[in-house]
Amino acid sequence: MLKSKIELLLEGHSLNALAKAREKLTTTYRERAGKEGVKALDSDQQRLAYLSSRLPATYTVVCQVFKELKKRSKGLLISSLLDVGAGPGTVLLAAVDAGIPIISATLLERDPGFIALGKKLTEDFEQIETRWVSQDATKEFNLESHDLVMASYFLNELLEKDRFSLIDKLWNLTKKFLIIIEPGSKVAYDSLMKLRYHLLSKGAHLLAPCPHSDQCPLAKDDWCHFSARLERASFHRKTKGATLNYEDEKFSYLIFSKTQFQSCHSRVLSRPLKGEGFVKLQLCSPTKIEQKIITKKNKIEYAYSKKIECGDEYFFDS
Ligand SMILES: C[S@@+](CC[C@H](N)C(=O)[O-])C[C@H]1O[C@@H](n2cnc3c(N)ncnc32)[C@H](O)[C@@H]1O
Repeated sequence: MLKSKIELLLEGHSLNALAKAREKLTTTYRERAGKEGVKALDSDQQRLAYLSSRLPATYTVVCQVFKELKKRSKGLLISSLLDVGAGPGTVLLAAVDAGIPIISATLLERDPGFIALGKKLTEDFEQIETRWVSQDATKEFNLESHDLVMASYFLNELLEKDRFSLIDKLWNLTKKFLIIIEPGSKVAYDSLMKLRYHLLSKGAHLLAPCPHSDQCPLAKDDWCHFSARLERASFHRKTKGATLNYEDEKFSYLIFSKTQFQSCHSRVLSRPLKGEGFVKLQLCSPTKIEQKIITKKNKIEYAYSKKIECGDEYFFDS
């Protein structure tokens, strides 16, 4: 569905020109990541380049995080959404795909070009009352609180001082869940960890991916990130100059909750090594990071771990 919506918006545009715009976009993000606020995209070509080369990936990641939210929130109803730094409406598109029963959505975005594209991408969501707010999130704004508040691939574009004041504001606007998603880089993870400690100190509960709310036990040079696989459509391959028909998008995320739920048992941190008669797992458990080897001798656990993927919850004790 997303693929055909993007194809429609790309009609009549040269994919070669979009490939050039994508290169410029990538350079901007690389050079500015973690240093200072990244400027808004400054041309229609760059916005379309984002649609063809980045939106499929960020959308797939948000869908994956929503699966975890649904699993962990045990059916708690989510009917209103506030998405900040909404871009072309990625989060709302993913929420509909994930079957989250949104009735009203507020999408805050500072770039009018993205708002125009987002309106087109979401125009068939007649059952959802959608309000686009054209606004710089670092400036004063007044909104009502929402069940679910999202910041997807956005906070790292802000200066650190703005990030902290905005996250306090977003937490105040959260009725049930606040989700932050960032690229799976060390820089983004480090800033995510600062927000993690900050929000925990404000009484937030961590729903995922961590199995506890203590200090992250990973070594200093390591970082917690996961991966989402997506198929690359032809426009996606062409804008990226890529040959493979799939890609793996790395991401880090945190789901905070206003109320306490049972923590996850332990989390699979990297791709499981599945060999002849054994599975080797790296797990984040409530007390430590551990390597676990499960052999055929433990029939039930072995059968379960054969199907497990990076990012899944692991239910068995050490
Ligand atoms: C990388 S895009 C992410 C878009 C979308 N959330 C996604 O996951 O695909 C970051 C978005 O944040 C917006 N943005 C950056 N700084 C902003 C600010 N200060 N206020 C509002 N939006 C901002 C940009 O215009 C852009 O649309």
